[in-house]
Amino acid sequence: MKHMTIHTSALPTDQRTEPPSQMESDVLIPHFSTQLTEYVSQQDLDPLFLCGSGEEVLQTLPESSFDFCMTSPPYWGKRQYANGGIGLEDNYEVYIENLLKVIEQIHRVLKPTGSFWLNIGDSYKNKHLLGIPWQIALEMRKRQGWVLRNQVVWNKVKGGPCNSKDKLRNIHEPIFHFVKQSKGYYYNADAIRTTPRKAQVINGAIVSATGVSGVRYRRQIELSTALSDDEKKSALHALDNLLDEVRQSRLADFRMIIRGQQRTTHSDSESVSGRARDLKDKGFYFLRYHPKGSKPSDVWDILPEDSQKRKSHFAPYPSDLCRIPMLATCPENGIVLDPFCGTGTTNLVARQMGRKSVGIDVSNEYLDAAIERCRILI
Ligand SMILES: C[S@@+](CC[C@H](N)C(=O)[O-])C[C@H]1O[C@@H](n2cnc3c(N)ncnc32)[C@H](O)[C@@H]1O
Repeated sequence: MKHMTIHTSALPTDQRTEPPSQMESDVLIPHFSTQLTEYVSQQDLDPLFLCGSGEEVLQTLPESSFDFCMTSPPYWGKRQYANGGIGLEDNYEVYIENLLKVIEQIHRVLKPTGSFWLNIGDSYKNKHLLGIPWQIALEMRKRQGWVLRNQVVWNKVKGGPCNSKDKLRNIHEPIFHFVKQSKGYYYNADAIRTTPRKAQVINGAIVSATGVSGVRYRRQIELSTALSDDEKKSALHALDNLLDEVRQSRLADFRMIIRGQQRTTHSDSESVSGRARDLKDKGFYFLRYHPKGSKPSDVWDILPEDSQKRKSHFAPYPSDLCRIPMLATCPENGIVLDPFCGTGTTNLVARQMGRKSVGIDVSNEYLDAAIERCRILI
């Protein structure tokens, strides 16, 4: 078992660093930033856990410290966690404001190339679905300058029972991917592609991963009444070139769109679509599939975590939720942050993927559970 370094919540209760109060914060400011500096300078990948309110702890950390943040704050009015905290406000407008204060700090401590993934559920009041996740997302863009790149729909596949007689069961939650700048943020799309099936040679002819051999396209071109002789010649030539690329494994798959044959997959307006222009000018175009496979979609089917396994924590999220975000948007030597880390799922995945991480929570009890989980891993 590896020795775990300075985790405030791993200390005996009388030595733990409690959340800084307003009055003490001057004294404590250098404390957390020194801990972070020491932590970052070490080789050790074990997470650093800090106990306190997300907003106050983050205020003590230097700007541009993290490459990646993923978190799931408490939802409004849903659950009572061990140490109070955000989510218990009487009205949701105050909840949104409180959350935005933490998110402002996340923006400050995230590097310009960093990514922030926010999983947050919605709530009802007087039968109204409030749209809280989108209210927060829009305020983040308006007030703090975040750029929203994706909304992932987390389909939980199976949900709890719903006794309401006048609405559907709620079974999905959004996960937003935000960045600080619209260009130049870290994104490794190749790390999340599904491995493509390979092209094969069948009876001496090359056949793409999904069975395209070019024979049908060739016949369609030769018999076409919508293409001129010159257009036919250049379409056949381009098709041969593309099959060569498949043969040389530079392309796993493709589709050919030929004037008058296939339904187009774009707007027909030539002013908005280059493909529409190609079809008009040349009589054909290709859809090339990426040789390294396709990227995941923005709908993820992931079963919720079985919280029975966790001591006294109500809402851990499943580790699978963190994998695509971390692979795609956290560099291998990057530093991960979760300011509402609970039982430390984000930190656990960071540890498994060889990234250093910091977890913050108001509850020492949950941090103990987080340390225990990461210790079992080692
Ligand atoms: C939805 S849970 C996070 C669960 C976590 N993703 C996991 O997998 O275990 C939200 C957490 O936020 C913590 N919390 C509530 N208010 C907080 C605050 N102001 N600052 C930091 N943590 C807070 C709660 O104690 C709870 O553990």
